[in-house]
Amino acid sequence: MILYREDDYNAMSLRAASIIARELKSNPALTMCLATGETPEQTYRILGNMCKAGDANFSKAATFNLDEYVGLDYGANSYRTYMKNLLFDHVNIRPENTHIPRGNSPDTALECLRYDRLLDSCQSRDILLTGIGMNGHIGFNEPCSALDGRTHIARLSQGTRKANARFFDSIDQVPELAITMGFSDIFHFAKIVLIANGRKKAPIIRELVNSQKITTQNPSLLLKLHRDVTVIIDKEAAELL
Ligand code: GLP
Repeated sequence: MILYREDDYNAMSLRAASIIARELKSNPALTMCLATGETPEQTYRILGNMCKAGDANFSKAATFNLDEYVGLDYGANSYRTYMKNLLFDHVNIRPENTHIPRGNSPDTALECLRYDRLLDSCQSRDILLTGIGMNGHIGFNEPCSALDGRTHIARLSQGTRKANARFFDSIDQVPELAITMGFSDIFHFAKIVLIANGRKKAPIIRELVNSQKITTQNPSLLLKLHRDVTVIIDKEAAELL
C-alpha cells in the first residue's frame, strides 16, 4: 500500500486526478471504476478541466460506478445525476460507455446480474477510484460478518444513512437499500486508488493504515490484500497516524 499525505483537499484531488490522467494517457481505452460522495468531487472537476485543456482524453474510456441507491429516479440525489453533473458532462466520454447500476430497475436482483455480466465482458479492468465510509465501507459494502463477492443489494447502516443525509432534505429520504459492486468485482481492478479527507475520516484511516488484522467488520481492510493500492489523504485525515 502506497500512502500519500497531501497538504489539503485540493492537493489530494490533484494527485488522484493526475494518476487517472496518467493511466488514460498510457491506455486510452482505460476501464475505470468510479465512486460518488463528497470526497471525489474535486477530482472530477480537475479531470473535467484537464479534458478541456487537452490533457486528458476520455473518448475511448469506459466507466463503471461502484454503487447506486435503490428506488431513486434520476433526480438530484441519484449517483447517475451526480456523475453527469460532476464528470460526464465535462469530459469527452461516450455516454454508452458509462455504466451505473440501475437503482430504479423494477427487478433489482436481475439488475445485479446484468451489471455483473457487463463487468465480466470487460477486456480489462484497470483502475478503481474509491472513497471510504466512516465505518470503513467501500462502495456500499457495509461492515458485516460476511461480505458478498459480486454485485448485490446492500442494506445501508443507520450510520451511513445519517452520514449521507446531508445530500437529502432529511434522513427519512435516504434510501435504505443500494446496489453495490462486491469485493470480487472490486479486486478485479488492477489498480485501486483510495482518497480521504477531513478530520472525520482520521479514525478510519488510522485503522486502515495501522491494522495488522483483516476483518469484514471494517471492509476497507480487505484492500490490504490487493497488490496495488494507493491511499491519498489530506493532513486532517492523517491526523491520527
Ligand atoms: C458513500 C458512497 C461511497 C463513498 C462513501 C464516502 O455512501 N456510497 O462510495 O466512498 O460513502 O462518502 P463521502 O466521500 O461523502 O465521505
